[in-house]
Amino acid sequence: MSKIHAAITAVNGYVPEYVLTNKELEQMVDTNDEWIVSRTGIKERHILKGEGLATSDMAVPAVKGLLEKRGIGAEEIELVIFCTTTPDMPFPATANILSDKIGAVNAWGFDLQAACSGFLYGLTTGAQFIESGRHKKVLVVGGDKMSSIIDYQDRATCIIFGDGCGAVLLEPNTEGFGIIDSVLHSDGSGREHLHMKAGGSLMPASHQTVDNRLHYAYQEGKTVFKFAVSNMADVAAEIMQRNELTADDIAWLVPHQANKRIIDATAHRMGLADEKVMVNIQRYGNTTSGTIPLCLWEWESQLKKGDKLILAAFGGGFTWGATYLKWAY
Ligand code: UT7
Repeated sequence: MSKIHAAITAVNGYVPEYVLTNKELEQMVDTNDEWIVSRTGIKERHILKGEGLATSDMAVPAVKGLLEKRGIGAEEIELVIFCTTTPDMPFPATANILSDKIGAVNAWGFDLQAACSGFLYGLTTGAQFIESGRHKKVLVVGGDKMSSIIDYQDRATCIIFGDGCGAVLLEPNTEGFGIIDSVLHSDGSGREHLHMKAGGSLMPASHQTVDNRLHYAYQEGKTVFKFAVSNMADVAAEIMQRNELTADDIAWLVPHQANKRIIDATAHRMGLADEKVMVNIQRYGNTTSGTIPLCLWEWESQLKKGDKLILAAFGGGFTWGATYLKWAY
């Protein structure tokens, strides 16, 4: 029997209605549209507003739409991997909450936390269950309500992040399409440059942690930028090399959307023209685990069966990686 690959057979996404523009941020912190656009490429981001709404509430419409596209019921899903840095609650897992909300009554699931590389970690993990023959329908969701952990008094971070969620379905493919290879890395010593100080077992929530604004994402932007530029480009080059791919072979780069300058550096290193790079950072900002599936969703109609895609990401942890896949439909 020919090898089983895990192929993406459907993709869908969701971004909340409210649009937070650079102009509005100018009223909140000392910044300006020109600085944000030139330093990051971001013009606006979507924010999930309203009491009682969490990350899973963006996943519900994304996944319901995905199931509809694929023409299957939620009860057919066997495994849910929810990649997120902003789970609804510390426990239970958002995968469980989502499964309940959509009626995935036959699925088991778990959350996967790898910050901005979360979706790539999730895709690689989900693929193992397909390749081994253990499961036939695995849902990989990447979504974050970043606005729940962003300090809107910190101009260096609040301009970057947005809320959004994307999801893909993985199914077995024996015709050579699907996920071919993936290279993943982590380096925990990078945690000092990008983290959230309080709310974990190291520093549980207290009046003091709240007063000191420690429940927000903390980022040393310049340092993270340097690591992101070199590592994302390196890992993209590495996966091309070990699969003997040239720039001409690649139909699309699907990069994590953290900063347009990081995306450009990666594309340049790969020798790719701008037309082959998916970029929507100008409208969504950095949605952390959501960026890559949101790109796939937006570009789905332009993708052709057999297109060779490289997905690449870098994020907190540090975590980074690249995935090579052949589009299956
Ligand atoms: O998604 C996963 C990982 N995260 C990333 O990959 C993000 C990586 N980092 C970045 O994208 C960039 O470092 C930032 C966008 C966060 C910052 O851009 P930068 O070009 O690295 O700016 P900087 O931190 O070096 O700051 C340059 C100047 C500083 O002023 P001085 O010290 O030169 O006077 C900042 O205070 O820009 C100032 N600045 C701002 N000015 C206007 C910082 N934020 C702002 C702002 N508006 N929002």
